[in-house]
Amino acid sequence: MSKRVGIFISGGGSNMRALVQDMTGDHPARPAVVVSNNEDSGGVGWARQQGIATEVIDHRPFGKDRPAFEAAITAALAPYDLDIICLAGFMRVLTAGFVTPWEGRMLNIHPSLLPKYKGLNTHARALEAGDTEHGCTSHLVTPALDDGPILGQARVPVKAGDTPEILAERVLIQEHKLYPAVLRRFASGNTTPVML
Ligand code: GRF
Repeated sequence: MSKRVGIFISGGGSNMRALVQDMTGDHPARPAVVVSNNEDSGGVGWARQQGIATEVIDHRPFGKDRPAFEAAITAALAPYDLDIICLAGFMRVLTAGFVTPWEGRMLNIHPSLLPKYKGLNTHARALEAGDTEHGCTSHLVTPALDDGPILGQARVPVKAGDTPEILAERVLIQEHKLYPAVLRRFASGNTTPVML
């Protein structure tokens, strides 16, 4: 039986697309639902075009009440009977109340070589630090931000004249290779890190 995957996005969802496009043929998982906190995220329209169910839960009406926002997500997820959640550019911090029940079954992709540069503005921070190498990491999600056991990393060189935008593009190309490779391996029950 295929594993049922829920993919959480906030924006364009290019990582979500890479995951969905890989989940065909002998892949051990299939996309069950795409969840977004933002109706306008380009990825939601794309998922609908592919015939994938979508659930949009706007965080704004919940204000600072993260547990209430998360309870709404949990309620929306109930019919999908998910095995795995992939965070793919989901720009809301999830509390331990949501994360803990999913620990070991929830993955994230982060645009840095963790443990370096948790949080935002990772590309600018790598440039400011004078790093010669940068990249992305896929990891299991724990209640701590951008923490948790590493399931894979991909490296890119930092080149002379790089801006945060240019570097982000170079990293994103690797994200689209790494995250599908990690999900494929993880869904087959193998947590050996994928190193690209
Ligand atoms: C990616 O860089 C991801 O690593 C980060 O947010 C970006 C999302 O891009 N968390 P997309 O929505 O997948 O195109």
